[in-house]
Amino acid sequence: MKILAIETSCDDTCLAILEVKNAEWRILTNVVSSQTKLHAEYGGVYPMLAKREHQKNLPIILKKALKKNKGKIDLIAVTVGPGLEPCLWTGINFAKDLAKDMKLAIVPVNHVEAHLLANKIKDFPAVCLIVSGGHSQLILMKNAGRYRVLGETRDDAAGECFDKAARILGLGYPGGPAIAAAATGLKNKKLGIELPRPMIYQKNYDFSFSGLKTAVLYDFKKRSPKIRKNRQYLREMAAEIQQAIIDVLIFKTLKAARDCRAKSIVLAGGVAANQELRKQFALKIRNQKIKAELLVPLKNLCTDNAVMAAVAAYANRKKKTKSWQKIKANANLKI
Ligand code: KG4
Ligand code: ZN
Repeated sequence: MKILAIETSCDDTCLAILEVKNAEWRILTNVVSSQTKLHAEYGGVYPMLAKREHQKNLPIILKKALKKNKGKIDLIAVTVGPGLEPCLWTGINFAKDLAKDMKLAIVPVNHVEAHLLANKIKDFPAVCLIVSGGHSQLILMKNAGRYRVLGETRDDAAGECFDKAARILGLGYPGGPAIAAAATGLKNKKLGIELPRPMIYQKNYDFSFSGLKTAVLYDFKKRSPKIRKNRQYLREMAAEIQQAIIDVLIFKTLKAARDCRAKSIVLAGGVAANQELRKQFALKIRNQKIKAELLVPLKNLCTDNAVMAAVAAYANRKKKTKSWQKIKANANLKI
């Protein structure tokens, strides 16, 4: 079966064609048209600007994708939420036109589920950490398709914290890769910067990252203009921000994994592309003798893409519909 998927929940215009045979998938096309440069000027995503770009990009990348893949498409998939409503609608309307033209059914896709399914999860229960620019949740997957939210952020998402902190420090957008790159240059610590690890020891699976961002702002404000631009300062700050986020994410996820006797620990979302996070997770699981397998997507499948939407559509293929008018965007769609 060949699935053509469209994903426009945020600032990337994504289209993929996936071939699924006996539940094994093969990527035929995976296009991500990034708007990073455009939004970098503002330090964040502007929904109406993103919508306009999606409208411009979608026909171009579709043409390219179909030129490469002559074979028949069997199913259309489209992300319907959660995400930025104007952006979601652009993808949905495009998918509807395509489905009508091709006389195909559409499977509506939940963006958070799609992020999780970028991993091939085989052993359950699975404790899943989804960390991106819009989400920070710990989700228990008892079986394929059965989800329970264990905890979530009470304010900013982990990726949002990376983005806002990078903006304060003038490191650019998106903040996650910028902070990770700045932290890599650190050889030794001289300034003794200590940031909080919000909610780390609280007896719940919730997160809070806005206090961490505020702590970064306070530290930055108390420094002289010269220090604020100093490379050593920026490296130390970047390393401490990254470590504070990693500490909280790992501590809470491993607590959930132990409490739920997880057989798999699943990372997903843009922040899961962070090399230090991946490395430290593997190390802690080994050191703490936790008997669960760590699953992480390929880096290009951590950040937004349409491959994961196609995989989620395959998992939910029973929900396919030709009643296109019923497919609506839901910015706050829950898993
Ligand atoms: O999943 P994603 O592409 O979009 C959303 O659904 O939000 O995630 C984007 C987020 C951004 O906040 C970005 O700063 C963060 O993921 N991110 C990273 C890294 N790559 C992307 N954060 C930390 N380290 C990275 N290497
Ligand atoms: Zn996402």
